[in-house]
Amino acid sequence: MESTIAQQNTAAEYQQLHDLLAPWNQTHVLRFWDQLTADAQQHLTDQILNIDFALLSELREQQCDHESADRAASRAEPPAACRPQELDASEREAARAAGAHLLRSGKCGVVIVAGGQGSRLGFEHPKGMYPIGPVSGASLFQILVEKIRATAARYDISIPLYLMTSPATHEETLAFFAANDRFGLAQDELFVFCQGTMPGVDESGRLILSAPDTIFMSPDGHGGMLAAMQRSGAFDHMQVHGIEHLFYCQVDNALVDLPGEEFLGYHLLSDSEVTTQVIAKQDPLEKVGNVVSVDGCLKIIEYSDLPASCAQLRCEDGRLRLWAGNLAVHAFRVDFLTSCCEGDARLPFHVAHKKIAFINAEGNSEKPQSPNGIKYEQFIFDLLPRASSAIVVEVQEADCFAPLKNASGKDSPDDVRSKMSQLYHRWLVAAGIDVPEDTVLEISPLAALGPEDLTDVAACERLSGSWYIGRG
Ligand code: UD1
Repeated sequence: MESTIAQQNTAAEYQQLHDLLAPWNQTHVLRFWDQLTADAQQHLTDQILNIDFALLSELREQQCDHESADRAASRAEPPAACRPQELDASEREAARAAGAHLLRSGKCGVVIVAGGQGSRLGFEHPKGMYPIGPVSGASLFQILVEKIRATAARYDISIPLYLMTSPATHEETLAFFAANDRFGLAQDELFVFCQGTMPGVDESGRLILSAPDTIFMSPDGHGGMLAAMQRSGAFDHMQVHGIEHLFYCQVDNALVDLPGEEFLGYHLLSDSEVTTQVIAKQDPLEKVGNVVSVDGCLKIIEYSDLPASCAQLRCEDGRLRLWAGNLAVHAFRVDFLTSCCEGDARLPFHVAHKKIAFINAEGNSEKPQSPNGIKYEQFIFDLLPRASSAIVVEVQEADCFAPLKNASGKDSPDDVRSKMSQLYHRWLVAAGIDVPEDTVLEISPLAALGPEDLTDVAACERLSGSWYIGRG
């Protein structure tokens, strides 16, 4: 009797789901329904009910991401930029003072996006856990948190960290922070929130089953940060703590100048809603986004979307025309971010063609050799054209950009460690400290955030061939 009722329930549920899916031509996801346990059916049902099919269909119709990127690229101009190295010392000092004032007021928080899966790096954990310290093996998370703590200590304030994870990185990130006593942050100084996901589809727009009871989903891009901040209560936390500006960076940049008084100063003095850091690209096809101006509006065109012919254009003096590379370091006014959550104007979705493992009709898992599907992602930098005031600040690559991306070659662990060591070498030299040329160097952010802090290096551990300068 009980089992008959259960069968009737599941048949009714199946029919409801089928009715929901049929108009969207997605009923194939119910292919294994009869073979699933009750829990597995529930799992699949929950997934289906959470999918915005109208949005998927709209994205499929648009599928014009590349065309619109091409159109934008053809009109792209170099952006106007603030170049601190060309300013008077007094102007730079004024910016540093303004940034310091903001920090001292306790109105600046930090957001780090760490939801990516780091597939190019081939590391099976959240990228922030990667042991990158050239001598200590400190993780990216530790190094970034120590930069925040050192700045907070300098100004005798608290700087909350809003850390964005994704379902793929959330639990392990929480466990890593818990196991390391949040790297010294107080409980209320760490706000971890999880971004959303988007279903992937095959080239004909149909959902992909990655298991008989599971529709393939992937993180919705760092642009998912806005909705995730709203959903998780991060904006409420900011309001309660009086946070009016956010310094934004990615978890992968070991040399990020965080929180960069001078950068924040330009942001503040220009009354900018979004301020973005750029470097002068060395190689036209460098894998960094291109900060450009299109019809007078700042915009970032991703490296994968900028045709090589545009990227390679040069000015008469030989410099790259579209010179400004995106470091993915921004300053945001919080009221601007919250205003962007209102209304229907969502950030656009970008399309990435990827290899997505799937379950074939027989229920066996298959790994494709070439891209077979599409992932949809929103990019936070698409906020730039929405800002009524936005500025670009150029910084020096060697001082603040060492992203960890690849397993070998450029942007690999060895490359990042070597860039860190070289920067610390320059700091020591600037502080008048002799250091043998080939020494591997590491300076804990808690010991120094720049050469000006290196007056006392008594805490330096001088091992053969390597120095570690920790907190004295
Ligand atoms: C990114 C930028 C590029 C910039 C470069 C600088 C994008 C689309 N492009 O390129 O313009 O020049 O960094 O290093 O961002 N992330 C999430 N959730 C997601 C996806 C990504 O939190 O859903 C985070 C990752 O954890 C990572 C960062 O965003 O910290 C960048 O993602 P990644 O895919 O590595 O971007 P890149 O191609 O390197």
